[in-house]
Amino acid sequence: MAQAIGGTTISRAMSDIGQSLLTHSKIAGLESNLETDESFWAVVRDMFPVQEKFINLENGYFSAQPLGTLGATQDAMQRVNTLSSYFMRQELESEYALTKQAIGDFAGLDTKEFVICRNTTEALDTVIHGLNWQKGDEVVLSLQDYGSMQEALRQESKRTGLVLSYVELPLRPGSDEEVIHAYQSKITAKTRLVLLTHMINLTGQVLPVKELIKMVHGAGALALLDSAHAFAHLPFSVKDLDPDFMGTSLHKWLCSPLGSGMLYMKPSLIAEVWPLFGDDSFPIDDIRKFEHWGTRPVWAYSGIRAAIDFHKSLGTELIHKRLYYLKQYWTTKVVDAHGVNINTPFASTRSGGIGNFSIQGKSPKDVCDRLFNEFGIFTVAIDNPEVKGVRVTPHLYTQLWELDKLVEAIKHLAN
Ligand SMILES: Cc1ncc(COP(=O)(O)O)c(C=O)c1O
Repeated sequence: MAQAIGGTTISRAMSDIGQSLLTHSKIAGLESNLETDESFWAVVRDMFPVQEKFINLENGYFSAQPLGTLGATQDAMQRVNTLSSYFMRQELESEYALTKQAIGDFAGLDTKEFVICRNTTEALDTVIHGLNWQKGDEVVLSLQDYGSMQEALRQESKRTGLVLSYVELPLRPGSDEEVIHAYQSKITAKTRLVLLTHMINLTGQVLPVKELIKMVHGAGALALLDSAHAFAHLPFSVKDLDPDFMGTSLHKWLCSPLGSGMLYMKPSLIAEVWPLFGDDSFPIDDIRKFEHWGTRPVWAYSGIRAAIDFHKSLGTELIHKRLYYLKQYWTTKVVDAHGVNINTPFASTRSGGIGNFSIQGKSPKDVCDRLFNEFGIFTVAIDNPEVKGVRVTPHLYTQLWELDKLVEAIKHLAN
């Protein structure tokens, strides 16, 4: 029903609901454990475009926008389409600046340190392809890093003679030191860059990136942080982590329109990175040289601001607590089932909403297909050299009965 009406109507309905949610949140927030208050999360569920054909536990690809954010995006799309080139020539600059400021305020960053781009791939590959590599330079990474970054590094390796050194990353480390040692053992005097994935997309494991970045800097190398799944999912401050470069997708846990991301860079390093699109209209140490993308779906900017407002009404801390609670809810119910392995750490410092399980003797694809075909539960099979399992990613709109169905299905399939 809500989707059949115009964007403006949705936005208004959304702001009314959002207001009552905020009030509810503030009142309920006085109590502890809001993350387990199902009546609160039922209100949140109503703010999302939930479909009932199947249970969606594959929210890791990208996030559906809440209805209000979608409404704001639709309004902007209509405005751009109506004003046409006038919007691009007269309004786009201020629209972009407004959105950049909103992201800067949200992330605690100066607008001179980041640009809005389309996604994490574009952000991180800009850095990977933009650095001046010398033959024999080394980069440390893991097979559990996202494929696109691995591919970009392999291409640079073929092109420039860059040497790639792979870390063996434990699935459920016993301590931070174990992870730090895994990276440290691959660093040499020739290491120029270490790729660190804040939250591994395959399993949901959160790496101790603050300590890792400190260690990388101590070794004289640069840290490239992939924050695709961590941003707006885990409470952290970019400045506190201190990466040299960071990329994220705003269309994941910030729930922004599809095709919105961000590239952060320490100002002192901007001059060292070539812009992907060869901009020479700005000084080489000006972050705006990375804002040269050509014509693009500019209505996303308005949607990003609405997404930030929605996100703030809950707060990243509560969002992490809820997503972690949902992951713990199902994983702890199946961890002791015969033949079931949980491939995600259990501690809240090492995980959030993403979980991964496998069933001994069964292929992840087969389990994933049966979950969908027999139980109407949508997940994704992970077939990585180091991780074989089914990834389960609930969202803020997920309800416990859906996870109960998952638990029942896993136990049935493991039997
Ligand atoms: C860890 C990680 N990095 C990068 C990406 C790429 O994100 P995008 O497709 O938005 O560029 C993803 C996507 O799922 C991811 O999980």
